[in-house]
Amino acid sequence: MLKEIEEQPDVLARTAFERLRDEEGDVEFEDGFAFGDDELSSFRRLRFMAMGTSFHSALLGKLMLEELAALPGDTLNASEFLYSPRLPEQDALTVVISQSGETADSLRAMREVQARGGQVLGLCNVRGSTLDREADHVILTHCGPEVGVASTKAFFGQVVALYLLAVRVGRARRVLDAAAGRRLLDDLRHLRPKLDALFGAEEQAATGRAADLLEPAAGCLFLGRSLNYPIALEGALKLKEISYIHAEGYAAGEMKHGPIALISPEFPVVAIATPGRTYEKMLSNIEEVRARGGRVIAVGVRGDQRLGELADAVLPVPEVPELLSPLVNVIPLQQLSYEVALRLGREIDQPRNLAKSVTVE
Ligand code: AGP
Repeated sequence: MLKEIEEQPDVLARTAFERLRDEEGDVEFEDGFAFGDDELSSFRRLRFMAMGTSFHSALLGKLMLEELAALPGDTLNASEFLYSPRLPEQDALTVVISQSGETADSLRAMREVQARGGQVLGLCNVRGSTLDREADHVILTHCGPEVGVASTKAFFGQVVALYLLAVRVGRARRVLDAAAGRRLLDDLRHLRPKLDALFGAEEQAATGRAADLLEPAAGCLFLGRSLNYPIALEGALKLKEISYIHAEGYAAGEMKHGPIALISPEFPVVAIATPGRTYEKMLSNIEEVRARGGRVIAVGVRGDQRLGELADAVLPVPEVPELLSPLVNVIPLQQLSYEVALRLGREIDQPRNLAKSVTVE
C-alpha cells in the first residue's frame, strides 16, 4: 500500500499525459471511447454508479461534470440501483466505475442499465476485465496493477480520468472553449511537482503528530464540503479498513444536525480546510469542534496561520486550483491511515475480512 501511495505522482502521467491535446485544449481517449461530440451533446444527464472507494470517485465525477460540462448528474451506490424503478434510460449516459472491473454489484448494475436500453461507459483499471469487455465504451485508467486491498492509486487515477472526461464533455458540448480547455490541461500538467512535495520530511513529521491523536481513538469523524466531501468519505474508509478504528465521513454542514453530539477529547475530527468556496465555513466547523473540547486534525495549505492557530495538528498540502484539490488532499489522509495502522500492527495490505475484488453481491 505504501508503494502504491507513493506511485500516485507517476499515475498522473500514466492516466493523463498521453491524452492531452494542448493545441485544441481538449482530451482524446483511445479507441475504447467512441463517443463523438454530437452523441456526447445528446445526453441530458449523467449517472455514476460504483461501490466503495470507486463510489467516492463517482461523487467527484458528478461534481466535475456539472462544473465543467454543465451536465446534471447523479451518483448511485451500484447495489441500490437494482431496487430503483424502471425509468427510461435513453437520455442518460451511465458511468460505471470499478478498479477491478469484476465487482458483482457494479456489473449487475451495468447489465440492468443495458437491459433498460441505456448505454454504459466503464471506467476501469484492468484491461480484459468483465467491465472492460461488456461496457459499451471504456476508459482505462492505466494505473498499473493495484495489489493493496485498500485502494489508493486506482482512486487517484479514477479522479484524474474523470477530470479528463469532464474536459472532453465540456468541450463537446461547447461549454468550454479551447482557451478554457487549455487552462484546465495546464493546471493538470503543473500538478506533478506539487504532488511530489507531499512526500517530504515535514509532511512525514506532521503525519506522525496527527497519528498521535488518532491512534488511541475509539472513533473519529472526517469532515469536508463540496469537492472535499468525497475526500472526507474516502479518508474515513481508508482509516477504518486498514486500522479497524471506526471512522465516519460527513458533509461538514451536517455537524449541527447530529454528529456534533459525538464531539469529545477522545473523539478526534479530521477536517479538510483548503482554499476555495468552503474554506471559511470549514474554519467555523473547526471552531465549533474546539469549543466543545474536540481535537482537530486539519488538512490545509502549508503555512496557513489561521488554520495553524485553530487545529491541534495540520497535514500540510500545496495550494492548487480548487478543482484539483481532491487529488492533493486525499494523499495525506492515505498516509495518515497507513501510519496509524502500522502503529497498531495491522495487516495493512490484506486487512481482515476484506477482498481486493468483491465478486459476490
Ligand atoms: C477500497 O479501499 C475498498 N477495497 C473497496 O471499497 C473497493 O473500492 C470496492 O470494493 C470497489 O472495488 P472496485 O473499484 O474494484 O469495483
